[in-house]
Amino acid sequence: MENKPRETFGSRMGMLLAMSGSAIGLGNIWRFPYTLGQNGGAAFLLIYVLMLVLICLPVMVSEYLIGRRGGSNPFRSFDNLSPGSKWRWIGFVAVLASACILSFYCVVGGWSVKYLFDSFSFAFSDAQSDYAANFSSFIGSPFKPLLYTLIFLCLTGLIIVFGVRKGIERMAKIMITVLFVIIVLVVVRSLTLPGAVEGVRYMFVPDFSKVTADTVIAAMGQAFFSLSIGCGCILTYASYVSKEENILASSAWISFFDTVFAIIAGLAIIPAVYAIAYMNGVDPNVGAGPGLVFITLPGVFSQMPLGGVAAILFFLALMLAAITSSISLMEVVVAFIIEELHRSRVIAVVMTFLICGVVGVFCSLSFGPLEGFKLFGLSVFDFFDYITSNIMLPVGGLLLAVFAGWRLKRANYLDELTNSGKLKIPRWLCLTIYYLVKFVAPIAISVIFLNCILS
Ligand code: PHE
Repeated sequence: MENKPRETFGSRMGMLLAMSGSAIGLGNIWRFPYTLGQNGGAAFLLIYVLMLVLICLPVMVSEYLIGRRGGSNPFRSFDNLSPGSKWRWIGFVAVLASACILSFYCVVGGWSVKYLFDSFSFAFSDAQSDYAANFSSFIGSPFKPLLYTLIFLCLTGLIIVFGVRKGIERMAKIMITVLFVIIVLVVVRSLTLPGAVEGVRYMFVPDFSKVTADTVIAAMGQAFFSLSIGCGCILTYASYVSKEENILASSAWISFFDTVFAIIAGLAIIPAVYAIAYMNGVDPNVGAGPGLVFITLPGVFSQMPLGGVAAILFFLALMLAAITSSISLMEVVVAFIIEELHRSRVIAVVMTFLICGVVGVFCSLSFGPLEGFKLFGLSVFDFFDYITSNIMLPVGGLLLAVFAGWRLKRANYLDELTNSGKLKIPRWLCLTIYYLVKFVAPIAISVIFLNCILS
């Protein structure tokens, strides 16, 4: 086997932006606002933050740690840390999970490309237009969405071909900066609409009557999905990180950025939806589901001053956010192919493009010609969304935590967290994280699962 040195990130900032780019994505802009809307606003937010600190942050630290210590793709990293054991198959399942997520993610990514194109021709300026009908006729048509799905996947592949520093890191730096500026502009537009304050209140004043067992599951699924944990993305990126980095601080920053960004995205969308609904004397339907961003928002843009510009900015932000996440998903599969099947990066990208492209086409067609085709009662798209977010990610997270807590042993864990004593992190903090990983996270994830199965 050739002994080429492994690629690494060029700078701490680059690494943080790439990992935050993986976390910040459609999950924040497309999924978070409507999940928040469906689950009682601020009450959901509180539970979400609780999940984040007690379960997701410890899992992220563990995934980061396994990647950095294992120094390879998920399959090989587990093998390096526990040679010859069955654990590496967990790594393999993580690679599979990433491929499955990418397959449906690129469909929605494709929609964002199409809506961006449309916004350039000011397609969202007619208040009388039926945006729901437009959206369903687009996603249901047999060719157009496939084309956009493949364009999106192609853009992702084009970045990955350039490798870790020149591809992932460089693009993440540019895209995340642009994304942040844009979304702040959209927030300003949204918050300055008359009546917007009701939307803000909705986001920050909790309504506990809406909290049920399902809210807890929804919050956990959303947190895993949004933080990109449980499927090897953080692990793979961490394998490109230098041994000097502070794992705990990096994980905390990424979780913080991701959550702040989700709230900012919520502020860009929900107050605007409220303001326009009040103007028209109708109920603001923020719990509108996946259509919130593609149906409700175009309607909102069409009725607000400067709405055409806001639409361009918004859909550009959506596409950029989607790409910085899809590259992390593709990199997991590509790293696996390069290191385990010994192919070049270009071939690995082409292989991943073909595999996820074919599955992506089926996911996309499930909104149109294949609508009647069901897997376990779900359409192909919903099936992939469901098994990944609600099952594979939490189970992956559970196993990562169990491996880190029970297999790596306390001494190794603490040694890795403190970079062999070079970082002065208080011992109580390291131990707290360790026990969260060893007991709290696995138990909490199992209880939430059992609750879900039994109810
Ligand atoms: N975190 C991404 C988002 O919020 C999605 C994602 C999930 C990316 C899992 C990588 C791994 O959109």
